[in-house]
Amino acid sequence: MLKIFRASILHTPQSPFSSGKLVGFADGGLVVQGSKILALNDFKKVQNDYPSAKIIHYKNSFLIPGLVDSHVHYPQIPVIAAMGLRLLDWLEQRTLPAEAKLKDKAIAKQQAKVFLKQLARNGTTTALVFGAHFATAMEEFFKQADKSNLRITAGLVLGDRLLQPDLYTSPQKAYTESKELIEKWHNKNRLRYAITPRFSVSCSDEILAVCEKLLNEYPDVYFTTHINEQKEEIDLVKEQFKSKDYLATYEKHNLITSRSVLAHNVHPSENELKRISRANASVAHCPSSNMFIGSGLFNMLKHLEHNVKFALGSDVGGGTGFSILKEGLMSYQAQMLQEKPYPLDSSHLLYLATLAGAEVLGLDKIIGDFSNNKEADFVVIKAKQKSTLAQNLKHSNSAEDSLASIFTLAREESIKEVFVAGKSVL
Ligand code: GUN
Ligand code: FE
Repeated sequence: MLKIFRASILHTPQSPFSSGKLVGFADGGLVVQGSKILALNDFKKVQNDYPSAKIIHYKNSFLIPGLVDSHVHYPQIPVIAAMGLRLLDWLEQRTLPAEAKLKDKAIAKQQAKVFLKQLARNGTTTALVFGAHFATAMEEFFKQADKSNLRITAGLVLGDRLLQPDLYTSPQKAYTESKELIEKWHNKNRLRYAITPRFSVSCSDEILAVCEKLLNEYPDVYFTTHINEQKEEIDLVKEQFKSKDYLATYEKHNLITSRSVLAHNVHPSENELKRISRANASVAHCPSSNMFIGSGLFNMLKHLEHNVKFALGSDVGGGTGFSILKEGLMSYQAQMLQEKPYPLDSSHLLYLATLAGAEVLGLDKIIGDFSNNKEADFVVIKAKQKSTLAQNLKHSNSAEDSLASIFTLAREESIKEVFVAGKSVL
């Protein structure tokens, strides 16, 4: 059935970092047929072109592409707001004990359901999800992810040292469990698999070698891990591996490719940036986490200069919630705090929250903006009556202004509808 979604519509079909502009229709119509976008234009124009289409009118609302979270941890809702600790202590005292609870299949199932619902309630339609250390938990997760209809890429987390022992795997177990999950879930409907060593700190060379073997056997699966998050962590890695830098510990096993997404990268060397760029790998930028656990300010300008792709990640539970709109605001603030401030505008934030995420995940041919023939993934945002957002929007003079208001003030309570491939997922 042909439908026209009528609202104020905003998207960034080209990167504003390379001269793309915000494209907006104050009274727009998004024409959707089944799961796909057929057209986007002024409402009057599309109504005229498609007179038989059913009209769904969202009054006083904004419609933007589905948000993409390029780094978020399934077991970590209980860890959000664990204050007072930096990365390594935060992991040991709060995060790893919480992750160990997912050994229980019933807990894993319950947490998977809640986690996926929270993504949708925040307008996230696509995510690269850092999984759990237990294959049973990942089986439950993929089952629920399939039911959720969201676009999810995820994998079993691997580690065999410097974690708590109940989270340890072995090279053999890592291989057979990952293989089984890949065979069952990779490319099933909207699901994909990502090989996921936790970080070099917790992985022996043997575990990283298993990751390489799996990537060779399944060349279209994704790869994700953490890198260059905190100084103490980086020093530990260099010492453990007798390595020149952090990236080299992954490169040694050929893990850095165009399908690799590296979370954080707050403290890279110039040379690492060069090599990430050469490999056409990507970075997940997680600004609220970087501030909450004290990692530092992401150097966006350096990533741009080196032509390294990056997109936003919430990094729940190092991050402070699921809102990719909030991550947009935090990324703005982080760049304003640079020694030499790098002021972003609202179109950059929308791009980083949507199309950039699709690019990082290799999904930009099918999602990320409202180009014809892409899948109809979108979010409807409506300010609650009397809210600060509603009051602030009254003074907006442009689409850019309104979008800046949304990134600054719109959160869960303003997300009215969320669609993936033309179907509601709320
Ligand atoms: N490094 C290794 N594990 C984690 C994690 O769970 N969160 C963050 N932010 N960094 C990590
Ligand atoms: Fe993380």
